[in-house]
Amino acid sequence: EKGGYDHFMLKEIYEQPKAIRDTLASRLKDGLVDLSKEISLTKEEIQRIERIHFVACGTAYHAGLVGKYVVEKLTRIPVEVDVASEYRYREPIINDRTLFIAVSQSGETADTLAALKEAKKQGAKVLAITNVVGSSVAREADDVIITWAGPEIAVASTKAYTSQLIAIYLFGIYLAQVLGTKEEAELKELVEHLLELPEKTEELLQPEKVKVVEQFARDIAKHQNLFFIGRGLDYAVALEGSLKLKEISYIHSEAYAAGELKHGTLALIEENIPVIAIATQKALYEKTVSNIQEVKARGAHLLGVTVEEDTELKKSVDEVIRIPATMDLLAPVLTVVPLQLFAYYACVERGYDVDKPRNLAKSVTVE
Ligand code: F6R
Repeated sequence: EKGGYDHFMLKEIYEQPKAIRDTLASRLKDGLVDLSKEISLTKEEIQRIERIHFVACGTAYHAGLVGKYVVEKLTRIPVEVDVASEYRYREPIINDRTLFIAVSQSGETADTLAALKEAKKQGAKVLAITNVVGSSVAREADDVIITWAGPEIAVASTKAYTSQLIAIYLFGIYLAQVLGTKEEAELKELVEHLLELPEKTEELLQPEKVKVVEQFARDIAKHQNLFFIGRGLDYAVALEGSLKLKEISYIHSEAYAAGELKHGTLALIEENIPVIAIATQKALYEKTVSNIQEVKARGAHLLGVTVEEDTELKKSVDEVIRIPATMDLLAPVLTVVPLQLFAYYACVERGYDVDKPRNLAKSVTVE
């Protein structure tokens, strides 16, 4: 059942090219996105949307953080992202011009479901992005985009996250098409690059790339603390990498917006502390490199994650992983893969149960 892999998590990491392909399939037409079969929102309803709320828990929340960048960039509609257990109790501003988007692998997470019901009660239109057809979240929503990741068994979510990102890109592009907020040529370019992601994900799963991540994970496995740093979308992915690591390897880690380091956390960067630094976003590259140099100067042991064409970063880090070239907006799908592998190998090295981490359940149906 594990298809020759040692653990479900590893199998699911390797299933990502297929999960991405399947989530894209049949949703593209003439080089653009066609969600007309799934989305009942009319053009008029989409034009009336004044604000969008992504609400979710854990990894799905991290997908929502990427969603904020993507949807705001493509549509200029203000987007908020909330952890469901917070959203429910903070009296968010909701009305009939709000689009509420629940992101949930299982579609059964109690807090996400309760937040959805509340938003609906207050007049929001509700879209669900979920991996389970007929789940509670799917049944309650007005519209559903299914992520075709297939069953996810490991508690630590991997292929569900990347598929959620794909669903978010598709929806963001679809909104931009309907609203006319981006040139068609630009949207077509995004779609072309989306189609290349399965193959590029496969490249990241080639043994020589995996070996670098595995070695770094095994080297740092005795540490108790670690940092992930990045800016913009790289920061959103850093949060997910950090959660993955904590969840299964029980190494404490923190994801920090690289520019925020000097406002406190830099005090914790001491000789030999492992830091995973992500620098895939062109507009933020110089700034991130300068933050990386700051931690390097304090003796950090660094793994850099950057883009293929990079020549700078390797001068400031101990090891480097390069993701295949893509558009900046799409980089998270690729960037997260080495971080998932990193958490996996750190857990294996420490000898913990990869697929069933302590105190966690796959589906959290109580508050
Ligand atoms: C982390 C993880 C959890 C879930 C969270 C939401 O690897 O799996 O953080 O992402 O419990 O679950 P769903 O997506 O089923 O609502």
